[in-house]
Amino acid sequence: MSKNWENAEVLRSPMEVCWQFDYDIDLEKLHNLYSKAKQSQWDAERDIDWSLPIDPSKPLLDESQFVLNELPIIQRLSDSQREEFRAHLSAHLLSQFLHGEQGALMTSAALTHAVPDYEGKLYAATQTMDEARHVEVYEKYIRKLAIVYPISPWLKELIDVTLQADHWVKIAIGMNMVVEGLALGAFHNMRRSTTCDLLRQITTSVLRDESRHVAFGNVYVGEAIRRMHADDRENVAQFAFEAVKVMSDAQGGPDGSGPRKHDPGFVNVLGHVGIDPVEFVRDLKASSAAGLREKVPPGQIHSFRDLMMPALVRVGAVTERTRELFAEAKIPIWDDTTTLESLEDAGSADTRLAEAS
Ligand SMILES: [Fe+2]
Ligand SMILES: [Fe+2]
Repeated sequence: MSKNWENAEVLRSPMEVCWQFDYDIDLEKLHNLYSKAKQSQWDAERDIDWSLPIDPSKPLLDESQFVLNELPIIQRLSDSQREEFRAHLSAHLLSQFLHGEQGALMTSAALTHAVPDYEGKLYAATQTMDEARHVEVYEKYIRKLAIVYPISPWLKELIDVTLQADHWVKIAIGMNMVVEGLALGAFHNMRRSTTCDLLRQITTSVLRDESRHVAFGNVYVGEAIRRMHADDRENVAQFAFEAVKVMSDAQGGPDGSGPRKHDPGFVNVLGHVGIDPVEFVRDLKASSAAGLREKVPPGQIHSFRDLMMPALVRVGAVTERTRELFAEAKIPIWDDTTTLESLEDAGSADTRLAEAS
């Protein structure tokens, strides 16, 4: 019996599908990414040790960074409530990775259709396969946790807008720079700090692929934006600003100190330990007014500062006009590409990631 297709959600896309009959390789760097991708394929069934146990009583994720744990309302929880809260919070976050990976699977397939170069199509096909593998591993892991949360509305909105964009450059910005900027930072920090060997093994393999996905933005999107008519460039820059804004609003601003968008999944997490969401928000506001901020321990990546904003600036997706929009939205335009470059491109990224942990 197949799945109930009525449950599948259908979107319509204005994207152009593009043939390319010139098979010459002009973009050597892009073709190199394709070659590396072919050589670096791994198998989620063969190369991950699924017999490794998960101990739900231990924190799966690094909690030192979670501003939540410093809130009085959370600190008042009993030990067993803390464990319950921890398990549901981890499941909520990992579920977003799972759904986000499905989004990435579809955006990279869309890139395969829409990019105008033969090398670009080859590369995007490998990213599609990479993302399929990522969906597979997170689905298997979450199945072991036995708690799955639905996709957060803000993430769904951001991926839907990206999937329904009218130009492939917007897809690459929305997914490869904004959504993957957040995910890459989270994966990197999770890989360093998790106490779960299985999660570390999965994330190490995923990160190896992601380093190519980040590099794609640099080697291809920048050139495409440079070639655009100024009006089209502004249009793309507007899209980039709006995507970052959705992400920032959802995260309580780049430093995580502001109010976050309502997330029914998170309300559900609170419900599991009997916390009233209204009281939670009151507590968060009071703590934030008292100076509580998201901490980034040394060696950890700050997604907005280290990945997302420098990637957008580097390819020319932030213009003089949108700089003002970012300023109004209180989102700093960080442009230091050091961390971004250290995570980029399979060969070098692997060693540097290993050294950093
Ligand atoms: Fe992925
Ligand atoms: Fe990716």
